[in-house]
Amino acid sequence: MTNLNYTHFKFLPMSLRVLFTMVLLVFGVGYLMAMIQVWESHAGKDGDPMISGKDLMIAYGGNPEGTKLETALRGPMQDMLPVEKRQVIFDWLHAGAKQDAFEAKINPILQEHCIACHNPEANPHLPDLRTFEGVSKVTATDKGMTIPTLVRVSHIHLFSITFIFFITGFIFTHAYVRPTWLKCLVIAVPFLTLITDVASWYLTKVWDGFAWMVIISGAFMGMSFAFMWIMSMWQMWFWKVPADISENNGKIPCVHSDN
Ligand code: HEC
Repeated sequence: MTNLNYTHFKFLPMSLRVLFTMVLLVFGVGYLMAMIQVWESHAGKDGDPMISGKDLMIAYGGNPEGTKLETALRGPMQDMLPVEKRQVIFDWLHAGAKQDAFEAKINPILQEHCIACHNPEANPHLPDLRTFEGVSKVTATDKGMTIPTLVRVSHIHLFSITFIFFITGFIFTHAYVRPTWLKCLVIAVPFLTLITDVASWYLTKVWDGFAWMVIISGAFMGMSFAFMWIMSMWQMWFWKVPADISENNGKIPCVHSDN
């Protein structure tokens, strides 16, 4: 009964609460930026401006009906040229992306709107759009992100997000949440969904329905983050401490043996 667990926020030194608050503030802004980044890089790949399961299927699994060029022109590159010219490129792609038509109609458009960035001197990592050969690399069927790209993105993702949720979860352990299993679940969910999220990127290549798993994982991760963030901030600064906790100098008394 008197087995004491953790110290509630209200009984932590002011300096520690200020530190926690500042970290949460920056993480909050960071999370927002991450959401904008996800939107920017995926929304509109399927032609519809909203972000959807289809967009993620294309991003990770590829698009059997499309090409990298079309995907880019419906997504991040869409503002680089006027709509009519974009249509000229789509028509050319759908007609089989032939070389003669390229020289006559497509090359002038690319020269005018694209090669400022898409040439090896300016950006060695971008597709070179100065020649038919270069363009051919992005007019092959879109297979989505390559495995080496996925591996690179996943190891960064796994390490960095683990840090964020370790810190956020650690701060949140000082909150008063009952039942205890709910508190533990909220702490565990981001890590579990991180694994299902990253695994689904690869699995989407095998079956594109896994794109939904990416979305569901992201949604649960976001809900956990929001819950921990709001609970921590609220209990740190606005919450009135219940009598049983204040009597214990901020130690939450253990009521159940499962604590
Ligand atoms: C202001 C610089 C800039 C201009 C102009 C530009 N791009 Fe891009 N393009 C980029 C950058 C940066 C990326 C990579 C980042 C991204 O995908 O958002 C990219 C990515 C691409 C990709 C995807 C490459 C891949 O491997 O998936 C294609 C295809 C593409 N651009 C085509 C075009 C076309 C066609 C035009 C002209 C209508 C154009 N770009 C104009 C900067 C530019």
